[in-house]
Amino acid sequence: MVGASRLPSLSRISVVGLGYVGLTVAAVLASKGFKVIGVDTDEEKVSEVSLGRCPVHEPGLDVLVRRSVRRHNLSATTDYNAIRETSVTFITVGTPSSNDGGIDLSYIQSASRSIGESLSGKRERHLVVVKSTVVPGTTQRVIVPTLESSSNHRVGESLFVCVNPEFLREGSAVKDMLHPDRLVLGDAGDGSSNLLLNLYKVLYRKKMPPVLKTNYVNAELIKYANNVFLATRISLINEFANLCQLIPGADVNVVAQGIGLDERIGPHFLRAGIGFGGSCFPKDLRAIITLSRELGHDPELIRVTYEVNERRPGVVIKMAEDLLGDLKGRRVAILGLAFKPNTDDVREAPALKLVKLFAEKKAEVKAYDPVAGENAKRVLGNAVTIVDSIEECLRGADLCVLATEWDEFRALRPEHFIGFMREPVLIDGRRIYDPKEFSSKMRFRAIGLGTNDG
Ligand code: UDX
Repeated sequence: MVGASRLPSLSRISVVGLGYVGLTVAAVLASKGFKVIGVDTDEEKVSEVSLGRCPVHEPGLDVLVRRSVRRHNLSATTDYNAIRETSVTFITVGTPSSNDGGIDLSYIQSASRSIGESLSGKRERHLVVVKSTVVPGTTQRVIVPTLESSSNHRVGESLFVCVNPEFLREGSAVKDMLHPDRLVLGDAGDGSSNLLLNLYKVLYRKKMPPVLKTNYVNAELIKYANNVFLATRISLINEFANLCQLIPGADVNVVAQGIGLDERIGPHFLRAGIGFGGSCFPKDLRAIITLSRELGHDPELIRVTYEVNERRPGVVIKMAEDLLGDLKGRRVAILGLAFKPNTDDVREAPALKLVKLFAEKKAEVKAYDPVAGENAKRVLGNAVTIVDSIEECLRGADLCVLATEWDEFRALRPEHFIGFMREPVLIDGRRIYDPKEFSSKMRFRAIGLGTNDG
């Protein structure tokens, strides 16, 4: 067993992979006085961070990066050898979907190999922390052997490996890292999670969150079960939204409020809408479905959760056709492109699927997002005209779909739509507008809102 005090120094930390998660982990640790070095193969990202700039839109992260770099607590490099000078390495590289829906471990494998190589010949103890989301079994079957063969160290002797999934939400990642609900620490039964716990005790001091210590596979599973659970709540409320739309007077928001007051259910993740997107939920669902099948199990509920979500953008198209008939040549304004507010991330954003579906129907689509326009343009190409303001987006439109609930869209009143649009017709895909106010002044439909006139 590893004694908690037996790591040479906890103050030097390396973080491999400077995406949303890695940079947040790095910057938060650096802001609390740890010496952190970020390692990434992307030279552009590394030079941005080295200059104190934040390559992603994540509230509060830019300030932390700037300040930490200025104070020499945060630096970045493409050189894996830097890891040698640290005593803890967080792996935060991406684990995207492979073509069969499973998990693509190529970044994990190459990061593990490079980390191992930089540690070969190092005598002091070193802790590797797996923060990337990996399907159960990956740490034991892939990461540990790769680290061992490339470093010539045996895990459990001078090299230690912990699984420590992250639960950071984009848009509030800094806050979530500073105030997590809990810490999940998985180790090989060698007590090495105590080493990591020590680091977190320094980070959180008197505000230590609850800690769950377990083995590798349970720690890996918890991350998937967490995301699947949340995704299932969303698909469940979205299924009720479908039902509500068929029942005059029904409103899914009231239903969600009512069930959310049941303490066993609680109010979170019950917002009906055009579906969940992002870099985690869809990919993680596919990965756990694929893994289950490989193990000979059909995970029905997870599969349906995913399928219900896949159908969300189609529900909006149906609503649009009910309102306007044939969509060919109709001008459609989409407000919001990011998969949720406060991020420029458009990965698997339902708004993008919506744009594609409208384009397939030969509608002319204009879209506006406060920060995600550039990223969306890269994915959508000519399917959409991306404009720089709400006004430009709405001007001359026959239909507007509210797709992402940014604050600046919440401030819009019926008069804005009536003033700019050719035909003021609005579909509220995220339930941010008051149905009474909007229905009394313009043609208005909303996800999960029953209507009397079909
Ligand atoms: C999620 C998990 O919350 C986080 O713990 C994990 O580490 C990564 O995946 P994130 O993808 O950043 O975080 O976003 P989240 O806030 O969970 O929202 C995911 C998607 O679900 C968004 O598209 C959002 O719009 C949608 N959503 C969320 C709903 O449609 N309804 C809800 O009630 C909540």
